[in-house]
Amino acid sequence: MRHPVEPFRIKTVERIKLPDREEREKILREAKYNLFKIPSEKVFIDLLTDSGTGALSQEQWGAIMVADEAYAGPRSWFKLKDAIYEFSGFDDPIPVHQGRAAEKIIASIYLYEGAKVLSNTLFDTTRANFEKVGAIIYDIPIKEAYTLEENHPFKGNIDLEKLEDILRRENVALVVMVMTNNTGGGQPVDLDNLISAYEICKRYNVPLIIDACRISENSYFVKKRNPKYSNWEVKDIIKESFKYCDGAFMSAKKDGLSNMGGFLFLKDPEKNLRAKELLILWEGFIHYGGLSGRDIESFAVGLLESRDERYLEYRVGQVEYLTRKLKEIGWDVMLPPGGHAAYVEVSRALKHIPKENFPAHSLAVEMYREGAVRVVEVGSLMFKDKAKFEFVRFAIPRRTYTQSHLDYVIDVAARIYEKRESLRGYKIIYEPPYLRHFLAELEMV
Ligand code: F0G
Repeated sequence: MRHPVEPFRIKTVERIKLPDREEREKILREAKYNLFKIPSEKVFIDLLTDSGTGALSQEQWGAIMVADEAYAGPRSWFKLKDAIYEFSGFDDPIPVHQGRAAEKIIASIYLYEGAKVLSNTLFDTTRANFEKVGAIIYDIPIKEAYTLEENHPFKGNIDLEKLEDILRRENVALVVMVMTNNTGGGQPVDLDNLISAYEICKRYNVPLIIDACRISENSYFVKKRNPKYSNWEVKDIIKESFKYCDGAFMSAKKDGLSNMGGFLFLKDPEKNLRAKELLILWEGFIHYGGLSGRDIESFAVGLLESRDERYLEYRVGQVEYLTRKLKEIGWDVMLPPGGHAAYVEVSRALKHIPKENFPAHSLAVEMYREGAVRVVEVGSLMFKDKAKFEFVRFAIPRRTYTQSHLDYVIDVAARIYEKRESLRGYKIIYEPPYLRHFLAELEMV
């Protein structure tokens, strides 16, 4: 398994330091074993998230210098509007500061107490925003999504039979396609699956919205894994995808290759206008939506850079390298490799730790204790009894870490695998009412 050559050279560097073992233990204790509470200066390799943590290109830095910070009608906004049109084919987008701001607006327009939402698997902030207004969410991915084996090229697909069956019998308010499916292992959705889902939704008059935060990576997989699209350019697959929806939202912190930003659009002009009204109430005027002109400039350039196929080949290749190496050293992983992260499933390797004591969190904590590597639990700590897997996600920030950084991570994971039976579980001593993993405090059992 070869690591793809990085298709860039490094112009600006940030020093990283490895705290010694004693300091790492102290930091974990002070953070109450919640990795979100660790100062990033104390992290050597930070794979907590791929969101907003990537490196900017020289073109993005250049654009930031010429930003227009006007409240209304800034030049930077028109540049972003054009970029979103070029990216998605939609000409009346609404800027937001990040994805969840769009989620809140969408929830308020489409949902209400008892409203039913179907999805290939909602992300945690989307779920929380929808549940906050009383919606009930059903995840209906294809059955292969709940297996680790390499048995389907598009494990992000929605189960079309279930979709049609539920739409026939029940009143559903909204269908959301998450591309790629982050919670399910960064797995892509086939364009043909999206097209069929959209046709079914049309038949039952139910709106379909795309969560497009990783649509460039998703479209690269469509090109590589569905022979029908092998001669297409990724940028055309992206645009084609946006034809099969009633609206979309995108966190620019992922495939927007930016540190902050996002957009949404609803194809129904009246709903789009309502979204703009709510935007002004919650986020800011329709020409900046909670972003500085500098963020908007970086976003406008990054969004189009994300379609570069040499970059995507390297990006997806890096995730594949990490995933297959983790498998080689003994960990169970989600296969085939996804788009932005490697997902280790610990149920077998850490079977001595019961679910109530968060076995995946135990590995996540150990990655810090052993090597100051920060990763995140996506299992029972995050989803309570709704967790389908005990995953640890190793998310790779875009254009940030090199092969030797990943080799270091693989070494740390290998050392832990050798002594896995000595790992211990955790219990919660404080938990907030929503999204508990962010603020929870834990202790070792
Ligand atoms: N949808 C998906 C699929 C996401 O992965 C995220 C964020 C969001 C929506 C929300 O966007 O953060 O800009 O408000 N995912 C990050 C992660 C936080 O670590 O996976 P946001």
